[in-house]
Amino acid sequence: MMDNVFIGQLIGAGLVLICSLLWLFLIRVKIPKGVPPGSFGWPLLGETIEYLNYRYKSGAAAFFNERRKRYGVDVFRTHIFFCPTVVIAGADAHKLLQNDGYRTLTFGHSQMMRDLFGETSLLLTEGDQHKRMRKVILGSMNLKVLKSQIPILEGLSIETLKSWEGAEVLAYDELAKFTFYSIMGLLLSLKPSPYTETLRQDFQILAKYGVSLPLKNIPGSSFNRALQARKRLVDEIKKVVEDRRKDGNASEDVLNYLMQPKGISRSDLHLSDEEIIDNVLFFIFAGYETTSTALAKIIQLLSDHPHEQNLVKAEHQRVQQELEDEGCLTWEKLKSMHYTSMVINEALRLSHLGTEVFLRTSKEDIAFHGYTIPRGWNIIIDKATTDINPDIFEEPLKFNPDRFQKNIPPYVLIPFGSGTRICAGMEFANIEMLVFIHTLVKNYSWRLTQEHNDEMEFTGVVEKPKNGIPILIQKLHF
Ligand code: HEM
Repeated sequence: MMDNVFIGQLIGAGLVLICSLLWLFLIRVKIPKGVPPGSFGWPLLGETIEYLNYRYKSGAAAFFNERRKRYGVDVFRTHIFFCPTVVIAGADAHKLLQNDGYRTLTFGHSQMMRDLFGETSLLLTEGDQHKRMRKVILGSMNLKVLKSQIPILEGLSIETLKSWEGAEVLAYDELAKFTFYSIMGLLLSLKPSPYTETLRQDFQILAKYGVSLPLKNIPGSSFNRALQARKRLVDEIKKVVEDRRKDGNASEDVLNYLMQPKGISRSDLHLSDEEIIDNVLFFIFAGYETTSTALAKIIQLLSDHPHEQNLVKAEHQRVQQELEDEGCLTWEKLKSMHYTSMVINEALRLSHLGTEVFLRTSKEDIAFHGYTIPRGWNIIIDKATTDINPDIFEEPLKFNPDRFQKNIPPYVLIPFGSGTRICAGMEFANIEMLVFIHTLVKNYSWRLTQEHNDEMEFTGVVEKPKNGIPILIQKLHF
């Protein structure tokens, strides 16, 4: 396999080199007037390799900060993934995202994304088609479905934590299983099993190798491996859809709704099988490693901050006492976990867990901070830098959930995105995190078995803690 990968990369690099030379000799890059300062880097490849290097070593923000320092401005141009690109950050950038509607921005579509996520996934649809798809998808995550997931998530949290008892585990790896099985339950009513674990392994491949040079036809290349994994996953989900159509299923899950949207009579809101499969796949992708990284980071932060950990414990003792009569966790009780919600918000701020950037393409010339972003250029909104801007957050690197007691200025914090593409799974992610934290602090004490280590690494799409967060948990006896 190593040989194949190597040969694949070698052929790919050769092709890119030949194309670059051709490009260099045949085409002259035109730089429109009024664009931000910056560099387009190498012919064709631009600054892609440098960007990817930074991204995998220390995060995209490091690449952006180095450029901002170099050009002495807060907005600059570069050339990555074969596109001229402008990088912007801060509240004005988020404002653009939030208020745009579908007017001047589209999602940064590239062929690479089409190959990875399918033409009809929410990610790749636009305007009216996106609106229609979102309507059905948000409908599938309605209150009834979400409430039905609470006992399932509670059961899964209990089982997950039980499997950690008695030995050191890597919290991140174990939480990745937890979030994958949670989302498989929500979408397809699938329970943890060797079969779901096989699907998870393919998702790992898709996430790990998807963000790479898009050499799709080169066997053994990273991108080709990601596409093979996607194909296997599509085949499996197709089977689930076909079985469901044959046998029916009374489960209160997302697939049931997508196949038969309730309360929606207009036929244009009914999804085709291709749309259902693309979106189930994208849903899993969007909700998998984001939530596991968030939970792992929360456990790490609470371990390092005993005072805040005690406040969380006190909140959950209170909830538990109130629950004695009712038994299981309820929607209302989850909504009353105010301190834990502030802990989650602070962890999301500190670790830019959902996404470090938003990627868009301009549909027309856009004026930004005195510069012009030309039509057709990509725009990267660098959220990570805004999350820790000292002009906005006092002691920005300090874990301080209490900062959410006060109002945070508008357009600043957008962990779940903003505007037309705000996270469709935000409510489910919050439930998942609250239920898991409740089960953990109610039943266990824990300690990290390695010294604090803040280092993060890119698994593909999101950052994960580099040391996996080794942890030892101990059951509390009452
Ligand atoms: C802590 C966990 C999560 C975080 C921080 C997060 C963050 C985000 C962000 C920032 C976006 C917007 C991306 C953009 O505008 O380019 C997004 C979109 C999305 N998220 Fe999440 N997410 C999380 C969990 C989930 C879960 C659990 C699901 C599914 C159950 C999910 C499903 C989606 C979907 C479908 C979209 C695309 C929405 C659209 O394009 O209309 N996310 N998420």
